[in-house]
Amino acid sequence: MISTSVKTTGNQYHIRTGKNILEKELQDALRDHATDQLFLLVDENVAKYHQDYIHQSIRGITSNWQQFIIPEGEASKSISCYSDTLDFLLANGIRRNIPMIVFGGGVTGDLGGFVAATALRGIPLIHVPTTLLAMVDSAIGGKTGVNHATGKNLIGSFYQPSAVISDIHFLNTLPDNEWVNGLSEILKYGAIHNEQIFKYSNIFLNGKPSIQDSDKLISLIDKCVKVKAEIVGEDELESGIRAFLNFGHTFAHALEKAADFQQISHGEAVFLGMLAAENLSIATGGTLKTDPLEPFRRLYKYRVPKEALSLDDLMENMNADKKRTGENLTFVLLNKWQEPIVKTVDDRELIAASWSIVFDEIEKNRI
Ligand SMILES: NC(=O)c1ccc[n+]([C@@H]2O[C@H](COP(=O)([O-])OP(=O)(O)OC[C@H]3O[C@@H](n4cnc5c(N)ncnc54)[C@H](O)[C@@H]3O)[C@@H](O)[C@H]2O)c1
Repeated sequence: MISTSVKTTGNQYHIRTGKNILEKELQDALRDHATDQLFLLVDENVAKYHQDYIHQSIRGITSNWQQFIIPEGEASKSISCYSDTLDFLLANGIRRNIPMIVFGGGVTGDLGGFVAATALRGIPLIHVPTTLLAMVDSAIGGKTGVNHATGKNLIGSFYQPSAVISDIHFLNTLPDNEWVNGLSEILKYGAIHNEQIFKYSNIFLNGKPSIQDSDKLISLIDKCVKVKAEIVGEDELESGIRAFLNFGHTFAHALEKAADFQQISHGEAVFLGMLAAENLSIATGGTLKTDPLEPFRRLYKYRVPKEALSLDDLMENMNADKKRTGENLTFVLLNKWQEPIVKTVDDRELIAASWSIVFDEIEKNRI
C-alpha cells in the first residue's frame, strides 16, 4: 500500500493505493468519525460485481448501513439524480457527522461529492474510486458537481474528501475501453510534469496490465496521484497552475461536443487533444524533440467516422467555449515536455492546422 497526502486549506487527507486494502483502509479512515450508521453510494456496475466485497469490508465497522445505487453513465450526473440521492439520505436520517462512502468512477464520485458538500451543509465524504480514471484523477482534488442541460459540470463546488481509498481489486472487472480512458489522464501527467510516467506506462502497451503487473500499476497510479496532489495543494481553487491539468482538453471538449458526447469517449478525446496540443505547441515555438505519446497511439481505436467531424464545427466549438468564458482562446501548451504554459493563440490557421493529426489518427485507427 502506498500513501500520499493532499494538503488543502485547513485540511489534509490521505490517498491510499494498493490491492485488497478496502477493509483495513476503511477502518482507518473511519476511526475519527461516527460509525453507528453509514451511507454508501454505489455505481450500478460496481454493485453488480463487487457488492459482496464492499459489504464484507464494512461488516466489522457497523451493521447499520444504507446503500443507494447510482445508475451507470454520465446521465446520472444530473440535478434529478442529485435530488434523488438527497431524498434518500434525508429519508434515512442523515446527520452531520455520518460519513458517506462513494464507490464508483468519476460520475458517481462527482455526484456523490456534490451531495456530500451540500447535504446539511456538508457531511464527511470518503471516495473509493473504482475506475482507473477516478483513481488517477477525478477522486483527487475536490471538484464535485453535476451537469446542466446547457453544458457539463456547470453546477458544483469544491469539497474535499476526508480520505481516498484506491483499491485495484476493483479494476479486475473494468471494461477495456475504460482502461484507455484512464491511460489518457496518466499520459497527461507524463506530458506536463513527470517524464518517468511515460516509462512506467509501458505496462499498458500489451493491453490491460496483467496480475503480475499489480505492483507496477499501484506505483504508477500513485505517481499520478502525487502529481495531482502537488498541483491541487498549490492551487486548490484553480486560479493558476491547476489549469495545466487541462492539457489537451480544449481540443478534447470541442471534439466530444462535435461527436455529440456519444461517438467518442472522454479519454479518447483527451488523447487526440494532446496530440493536437503537441502540434500547436511546436507551431508556436515549443521545442518537443521526442514524441513520448507515439507508442501509445495504436492502443486507441475510434468509433467516430472522420466524415462525421468537420473542421468548421470543431473550430466553432472552441469559439463557443471562448464566448462562454469571455476569454481569448487559450491553450495549455508545452515549451518542452514537462514545461507547460498557458498561451493565448489568435492565429486561426495554426489552430486549424493542429487538428490535422486528429483527422489522420481517427482514419488510421478506426474500429
Ligand atoms: N472531479 C474531477 O476532478 C474530474 C476529473 C476528471 C473527470 N471527471 C469526471 O469523471 C467522469 C468520468 O469518470 P469515469 O471515466 O470514471 O466514468 P464513469 O464513472 O461513468 O465509469 C465508467 C464506466 O465504468 C463502470 N465502472 C465503474 N467502476 C467499475 C468497475 N470496477 N468494474 C466495472 N465497471 C465499472 C461504470 O458503471 C461506467 O459504466 C466524467 O463525468 C468527468 O467529467 C471529474
